[in-house]
Amino acid sequence: MNLDINKIRKDFPILEQEVYGKKLVYFDNAATSQKPSVVIDALASYYKDENSNIHRAAHFLAEKATVAYEESRKEVQAFINAEHLHEVIFTKGTTDSINLVASSYGRKFIQEGDEVIISTLEHHSNIVPWQLICEQSGAKLRVIPVSDSGEIIFSEYENLLNEKTKIVAVTHVSNAIGTINPIKEIIKKAHEMDIPVLIDGAQAVPHMKVDVMELDCDFYTFSSHKVYGPMGVGILYGKEKYLNEMPPYQGGGEMIDKVSFEKTTFNELPFKFEAGTPNVADVIGFKEAIKYINTIGLDNISSYENSLLQYAEKQLIKIPGVHIYGSKEHKASVVSFIIEDIHSYDMGMIIDKLGIAVRTGHHCAQPLMDRLGIQGTIRASMAFYNTFEEIDIFIESIKKARAMFNN
Ligand SMILES: Cc1ncc(COP(=O)(O)O)c(C=O)c1O
Repeated sequence: MNLDINKIRKDFPILEQEVYGKKLVYFDNAATSQKPSVVIDALASYYKDENSNIHRAAHFLAEKATVAYEESRKEVQAFINAEHLHEVIFTKGTTDSINLVASSYGRKFIQEGDEVIISTLEHHSNIVPWQLICEQSGAKLRVIPVSDSGEIIFSEYENLLNEKTKIVAVTHVSNAIGTINPIKEIIKKAHEMDIPVLIDGAQAVPHMKVDVMELDCDFYTFSSHKVYGPMGVGILYGKEKYLNEMPPYQGGGEMIDKVSFEKTTFNELPFKFEAGTPNVADVIGFKEAIKYINTIGLDNISSYENSLLQYAEKQLIKIPGVHIYGSKEHKASVVSFIIEDIHSYDMGMIIDKLGIAVRTGHHCAQPLMDRLGIQGTIRASMAFYNTFEEIDIFIESIKKARAMFNN
């Protein structure tokens, strides 16, 4: 199916605006994506017509809000093909989801002398929570190295796996350079030794169909705000067999069964991991984002974004001094690059004045930048509402800025 991009763009009101008198070119989708009107309207409508605290009160509005909130869980379950509804837990975001697993799984299963495997490609969100639990427990963090082209070295991964490994936590797609990891093979290898695997899917879910049962991952995490949904909502998918074994992450209302000063018992899944009043409005808004994506189709999104990526890289590489990082054949629609002698921050500032929104710097992946021997990159990350014409504007802006530096 050919996407009608002009029609699609009308669904995203923010894209119509100008910045500094120039047409906005929004290429910072890996940081957060823009929201279609259906999502914005759902938030307003919730606060106008439904606002109420869920699960507890026995009144009309509370029931309505509870039903809408739980429908979102069903929508997410279908979206990622989770076997059970109670395997879908709402959190604040990917960071929160990973912290939940590191803390709760860690407390129960990770002890002194154990090992946790991550990779060099990780976002800080999938590094620091594991460092914290390793420090607390006396376990060791082991890191899968990457090649110069930004790919996990699989044989090194195989060498790291051993009977002390208690969990493998890797990203599905690198936020900094777009590499898509061979997560199916990574999961399969770990499972041969009965080791569970957490996949950080923050940068994958916006771009490709994710089927957690097919992947057979044990945990999968992502953020609504990167998938055209509201901020402040994250998803933790976890296999029932692990979630049932794991102790609560936070204590408070909702997550309990019975409380007394002598002993507290806990609610069943998923509520055991949803302490306190959740972000009801934004969870409900996320349902609309998923429905919207489904109408366009993730396969269509993937193939259109891939053609944008190919076009952008082809144009960019023609500019003298440009070096693109991440040369894997199959990447998400992220182009990360530097231009000889020009600091990424300076370039970002100049093209911002020309209406282009990109991200510059280390992209919360400092260990990866260290490995690549750079301080940071300019990252253009594209979504399905971006156009070839915007890439042309972007390329012209880069050329203009480069000429300014060289004068
Ligand atoms: C790969 C990856 N993991 C985790 C995160 C953290 O997501 P959030 O800030 O929504 O918790 C990000 C955000 O950029 C990311 O790109």
